[in-house]
Parts: sequence; C-alpha cells; structure tokens
Amino acid sequence: MESPFKADAVKGKVALITGGGSGIGLEITKQLGKHGASVVIMGRRKHILDSAVSSLRSLGIRAVGFDGDVRKPEDARRVVESTFKQFGRLDILVNAAAGNFLSSAEDLSPNGLRTVMDIDTVGTFTMCHEALKYLKKGAPGRSDSSSGGVILNISATLHYTATWYQLHVSAAKAAIDATTRNLALEWGSEYDIRVNGIAPGLIGDTPGMSKLVPKDINSQAKNLLPLYKAGEKWDIAMAALYLSSDAGKFINGAIVVVDGGFWISQPRPPIPKEAMRQLSRSVDNKARDGPGGVPRSNL
Ligand code: COA
Repeated sequence: MESPFKADAVKGKVALITGGGSGIGLEITKQLGKHGASVVIMGRRKHILDSAVSSLRSLGIRAVGFDGDVRKPEDARRVVESTFKQFGRLDILVNAAAGNFLSSAEDLSPNGLRTVMDIDTVGTFTMCHEALKYLKKGAPGRSDSSSGGVILNISATLHYTATWYQLHVSAAKAAIDATTRNLALEWGSEYDIRVNGIAPGLIGDTPGMSKLVPKDINSQAKNLLPLYKAGEKWDIAMAALYLSSDAGKFINGAIVVVDGGFWISQPRPPIPKEAMRQLSRSVDNKARDGPGGVPRSNL
C-alpha cells in the first residue's frame, strides 16, 4: 500500500535501527528510508544485513549495515560511533532487535529468561544509553540545536494480560515499556528527546509469527481478531514514521498499540444480538411497569 505521508517526512534525518535486517525492523527501515532518512541497520548476522542493505539501496535509500549484538556494550558503542562517522549525526534510534521462543514456565530455565531479557530489555537500554550523546539537544551534528532526537522501542501487548508460554517475553516487553516511559520523563525533560514505544499485535509474514504461531493456529486466530485479519509490517512502519516525524512532535512516553484491537477483544457472548435486544427491552419494560417505575429526570 502507498504511504499517506509526504516523501520528505523525515528528510535529512539519520536513523539507526537494531534488528533492521529482517521482519518489522526492516520494514521500518525501508519506510524511514523511502521518506528521506539515511538508515543504518544493526544485526548479528552479516549475510542478512548485506542482503537487506542491497535491497534498501536498490530502492534509492542511503543504507549501511553494521554487524553487532545489542547484548554486547562494546558492539552497541561501536555501531553508534560508526553511524555518526558515516552520516555525521543521529536523529532516530529504533530498538527492534528481539529474541523469542515458545516455552512453558516449567521448561524455561533462568538462563532462558535472562537471555531474552538481555536482548530485549538490557539491549534496548544499552543502545539508548550509547546513543544519548548524539540524540540530545545540542549534540554534535544536530543542525537544529534547540531540539533532540527520537527513540522508538518496539514491545508487544503480551504482558497487558498473560500469554501462554511467553513468560520470558512478557517480562522483557513489560520492562521495555517501563524503560520507554522513564526515559521519556527524564530525557524529555533534560534533553528534549522524545521516547515512545510501539506494541505490535499479530503481524503476518514476520520471523516472530512463523516461529511462534503455527499456520493452522494462525488461521484460527484470525476468527478472534476484531478486524478478522492479522496486521502487516507496513502498519507498524507507518506508526514508526508518524512517531518519528514532526507529526508526532508532542508525543512522548506513549506506547502506541498497533494490533487491530486484538488485546482488548473478548469472545462474543453466547446470546445472539437480537435476543440481547429483546432481553434488554423486556428488563426495561418490567422496570417501568414496576411499583417504583423509572425515576423521572429533573433536568
Ligand atoms: N526453549 C527453551 N529454552 C530455550 C529455547 C527454547 N526454544 N531457546 C533457547 N533457550 C534457552 C537455552 O536453553 C539457554 O538456557 P540454558 O543455558 O539454561 O540452557 C538460553 O535460552 C540461551 O540459549 P542460546 O541458544 O545459548 O542463546 P542464543 O543467544 O544463541 O539465542 C535466542 C538467542 C534464544 C533468542 C534464539 O532463539 C535466537 O537467537 N533467535 C533469533 C532471533 C529471534 O528469535 N527473533 C524473533 C523475533 S520475535
């Protein structure tokens, strides 16, 4: 689908996207690039980065890939520094790198929990911490010295309720959301950096979806979705574009849920809609005809 945003929505900005070589991270990278940003992607697997960079360049996007693991502070520092050396500034940091697998709580080892927390939560914070010196108001390379940059942290909706076999990811994403809000408070006040989150729901055609939701469950899940469909990576990328462009200039500390209403959904009640209407009318009529009647309004 064509973007409704102007092609220069983030023109001249430099964006660094962790996990930008595939899935949601790659689509965010592509849309930021198509709307004028120069992009740097960071990931652990060089061949994935290389192929993503060549696909981005084929679209006319200024793109570079640096391999690194967000769990390693030295990698985070090197990639942030290399981004600055390459493009002379940093405006947008997107933390999209994540680790996931299905495991019951009983089978999950403390190290399994720690591994996901390390990638998702500690990795997100490490990247933010390293990027601070280039994102803050008046930082080197920032032409508009009166404003700071933008951070976007990708989380999920799993922890809003509870999710089977996702204790580790729910814990990690809850901690990311807390990090987002606290950084928005502190760095918004001190450095004019806007920090927001995006919480994707079921998004088709992503490594997460194929890893975590087998195809037959996926088709059944669609019946539970209020919009009867899974989202697209594009939907998340448009939210990212909105939040990182000037359109989102007063948004700070928000976690934007992009899930088609899935997390608030409930099974339909067992009583059909027409039967519910009749029941409602008969209860209402009984109340009116009863001894007390319906109280009259004094307005
Ligand atoms: N079920 C249960 N535990 C698991 C697991 C699984 N499927 N996969 C890994 N773990 C546990 C391991 O058992 C280990 O704990 P232990 O030492 O107590 O045995 C711990 O996690 C670390 O595993 P390891 O394979 O050494 O970590 P890694 O750094 O190589 O892998 C993961 C990281 C676990 C996130 C891996 O799934 C991964 O790299 N995935 C690719 C990225 C991804 O999943 N993206 C999805 C985006 S939604």
